[in-house]
Amino acid sequence: MKPRIVILISGRGSNMAALLAASLPLEIAAVISNRPGAAGLALATAQGIAAEVVDHQAHATRETFDQALAEAIDRHQPQLVVLAGFMRILTPAFIRHYQGRLLNIHPSLLPAFPGLHTHRQALQAGVRIHGCTVHFVTEQLDHGPIVAQAAVPVLPDDTEETLAARVLESEHRIYPEALRWWAEGRLTLRDDGRVGVQGAAFPQGALRVPGAAA
Ligand code: GRF
Repeated sequence: MKPRIVILISGRGSNMAALLAASLPLEIAAVISNRPGAAGLALATAQGIAAEVVDHQAHATRETFDQALAEAIDRHQPQLVVLAGFMRILTPAFIRHYQGRLLNIHPSLLPAFPGLHTHRQALQAGVRIHGCTVHFVTEQLDHGPIVAQAAVPVLPDDTEETLAARVLESEHRIYPEALRWWAEGRLTLRDDGRVGVQGAAFPQGALRVPGAAA
């Protein structure tokens, strides 16, 4: 039987769309948004995937929202929960509940530039290389074990928008790739807190650099 995932979104849903388009060897049981107006919900519905809303504004505290969210997720009994542009800080209890089963994509080369406005942070820091990271979620924000990263160049004329667009293209490549590894049982969360990718001679399989073949 194919492993089952639930995808959490908050908005546009382009990473979710990239996962849907990748024909991955897994079942997407549902897409859940914390915002009723998230554009990604319609995209999911159009592809025949159950789309649900757990509105954070209907909850007085993070704790009750996270409880409601976990209940909605667990009804689908997923083996993995995939955050794809899900813009809520999750409580420690929620994260512990899904320990080792919660994956995120972050638009920077972690541990650089955690948090919001990563492209602005990168431009302000003057880095020449920026990128994105797929990682398991731990209680420390944007900090868990790294599965895959993609590097992109920062060009002299870049604005936040042009840099974001270049990084997003890479997000759409590495997130489906990382999910495929997971679905094929090739990811190991090791005791030392690092992630092994079986069958990919590290770093070739898990590292993309500017100029490398797609
Ligand atoms: C992506 O850049 C993601 O890494 C970040 O928010 C953005 C969401 O975009 N957390 P989308 O909703 O997947 O289009």
